[in-house]
Amino acid sequence: MTKTISFILNGDEISCDIQDHWTLLHLLREELGLIGTKEGCGNGECGACTVIVDQLAVNSCLYLAADIQGKQVQTIEGLAVHTGSLHPIQQSFVDNGGIQCGFCTPGMIMSAKALLDKDPEADQEAVKHALAGNICRCTGYVQILDSVAAAGRQMAGKKTDKAAGYGDPGPVTRQPGDQTAGEVTP
Ligand code: FES
Ligand code: FES
Repeated sequence: MTKTISFILNGDEISCDIQDHWTLLHLLREELGLIGTKEGCGNGECGACTVIVDQLAVNSCLYLAADIQGKQVQTIEGLAVHTGSLHPIQQSFVDNGGIQCGFCTPGMIMSAKALLDKDPEADQEAVKHALAGNICRCTGYVQILDSVAAAGRQMAGKKTDKAAGYGDPGPVTRQPGDQTAGEVTP
């Protein structure tokens, strides 16, 4: 069944016709042309499709488009548009090697943004927790964590990382399936 919904997308109010069964991911990519949000697994496992809905990072492949009526949706396209320059998190991923193939990057950045918007001084454990649902096949995660940490410091207006607990990062706790840079999983 077709219905019309209205919501805020990257700061702009829009209305569009949707089908009941469409996911938010389908609406964004296939109907609205916002292909920065990626489709990986399509079933909530990889985080490539992460967007922010009302300040929360969500898997858009599992989120019904009908449920965004009246809500605020942020996608990767909305981060730099209004400033004309990259968002600090985007710039930090570039500067700190948090990107290789880039397929996971929009989802990583949106998960990081949902966290740092609430708490730019989030410590390493909080960052790891926030990004736990985002899978990367390329970077080994260390550069990604470094990127988020550096962005947090900038967003918090800090020149050093001591206060956020990044001064001595220590060993990175690896999860099953984690890779180091250069490893290839079939
Ligand atoms: S595409 Fe949504 S979690 Fe993988
Ligand atoms: S940079 Fe390639 S999947 Fe993360």
